[in-house]
Amino acid sequence: MFTDNIINILLIEDEEYDVQRVKNTLQLFEQNIRIKAVVSSGIKAINLLEANAEDYDVVIMDYQISGGLMGEKLIRKIKTIDPLLQVIVITKMTININDLNFANELIQAGAFWFCTKYPGDVDYIYQPTDFSLSIFNAKRKRELEFAQRSSDMKLSRNIREILSSKKIIGSSQPVQQLHNRIDKCAATTASVMITGPSGSGKELVAANIHYRSERKYENFVAVNCGSIPTELIESELFGYTKGAFTGADKNKEGLFEYANKGTLFLDEVAELPHNVQVKLLRVLQEGELEKIGSTERKKVDVRIISATNKDLKQEVVERRFREDLFYRLNVIPIRVPSLAERADDITLLFRHFLGEFSQQLNIPFPEIRDDALEILRNYEYPGNIRELKNITQRILFDSEGIITPNIVRNSVEGAPIMFESSSGEFNQILETEEILPFSDAKKILHKKYLTYVRENSNSDAHAAEQLGMAPSNFHRICKEHGLK
Ligand SMILES: Nc1ncnc2c1ncn2[C@@H]1O[C@H](COP(=O)(O)OP(=O)(O)OP(=O)(O)O)[C@@H](O)[C@H]1O
Ligand SMILES: [Mg+2]
Repeated sequence: MFTDNIINILLIEDEEYDVQRVKNTLQLFEQNIRIKAVVSSGIKAINLLEANAEDYDVVIMDYQISGGLMGEKLIRKIKTIDPLLQVIVITKMTININDLNFANELIQAGAFWFCTKYPGDVDYIYQPTDFSLSIFNAKRKRELEFAQRSSDMKLSRNIREILSSKKIIGSSQPVQQLHNRIDKCAATTASVMITGPSGSGKELVAANIHYRSERKYENFVAVNCGSIPTELIESELFGYTKGAFTGADKNKEGLFEYANKGTLFLDEVAELPHNVQVKLLRVLQEGELEKIGSTERKKVDVRIISATNKDLKQEVVERRFREDLFYRLNVIPIRVPSLAERADDITLLFRHFLGEFSQQLNIPFPEIRDDALEILRNYEYPGNIRELKNITQRILFDSEGIITPNIVRNSVEGAPIMFESSSGEFNQILETEEILPFSDAKKILHKKYLTYVRENSNSDAHAAEQLGMAPSNFHRICKEHGLK
């Protein structure tokens, strides 16, 4: 489109004498500016542009022209055909050159520039270099707008790609409600609190809110408050200045700053230590940030989405979480249902993940036996969708073209055994018809026990402590069992 330096002009002028004067005026730059077509009415111009708008860069139009379509109406029509067309208006001297209203209306309608024609006894329509210069500027503006439009298109294509990789699969009633709620949240900047069991899709929901909101082109910054060591959280979130403490050898931007104008996702928010809760509250109340080691304040505009799989109200009651911060963060609550609450979606999710993994692992999509699917549908999924996803990957790996009940049973780690909720009783394992290999039984017991301990701990850090394990080991083991 912009490969040559010739600027192509469409001239709309009904007086032959003025057509000639425009030509005279542009003669100086005839190497660069070419009057490609001249038409004598608005209708003819529109017909021409509707057929071949891309042949022209700039439209020069007489303001008062014969035929019904003229003036602002004509400018608007040209801009709707192609917003990149730049319009220069030439008017008779009868227009008062000080008429601000007239100028405003032209610009409002989409004109790039206007000038009043010289008196009829002058051979030029306007001062030639000024007139030509404004045409060069119009072309420049067209190029900038073109570049802007291409990068906007690229950006929105990226967002579409992100959203398709973060699609929330499911057609059950609870998932439809979840979609509605996400759309509502995306339309505001209010703080959102996402609750729901482990692996149910809280982070996915947070990302969907961000990438559907007006902030979608800005950063989405996810922080797991439970996995950063307590003494580092403050500096990670708020940053510090050089010399703030030993080892602070340069200024560090905090995640808050990095998320400025975008969204900060505070995952496992219940794990925030008390001093950070206080500081966070202050930033949210004042919209200003104070880096460690500095008294200078910086304005930040960050949308906060938090998530927890704990009962945060109970944390407030037990004074582990500040009540005022809780209300600040919990403006719009969203509850993500467990997989058990949307068991209807299991088949859909299973097929979706199978499709994804078969592509990733380059394995053909296998046949699925109904009785195999039945086992999957009846399993409880304490680790929710993440667990189903992990199981799907294992099944695909073992499948060799067909998914049988045996393959499912192997991958589900004892699917035929129905667990009671974490009561601490493991009797069911003894009531199965078959004797399981010891390693399988161990896996079942481990998983059951880990779930039980997590449900009876304040946090994963607490669970690890109770089990006498390092948090990182606990995290790894939970992960191995599909609980994380
Ligand atoms: N409805 C869904 N459709 C497709 N994939 C999903 C869906 N829900 C969750 N997932 C996938 O399951 C995995 C777990 O989801 P996510 O990390 O969002 O859960 P979470 O609730 O944040 O878990 P945790 O409490 O452990 O942090 C991710 O790989 C996610 O992409
Ligand atoms: Mg998460």
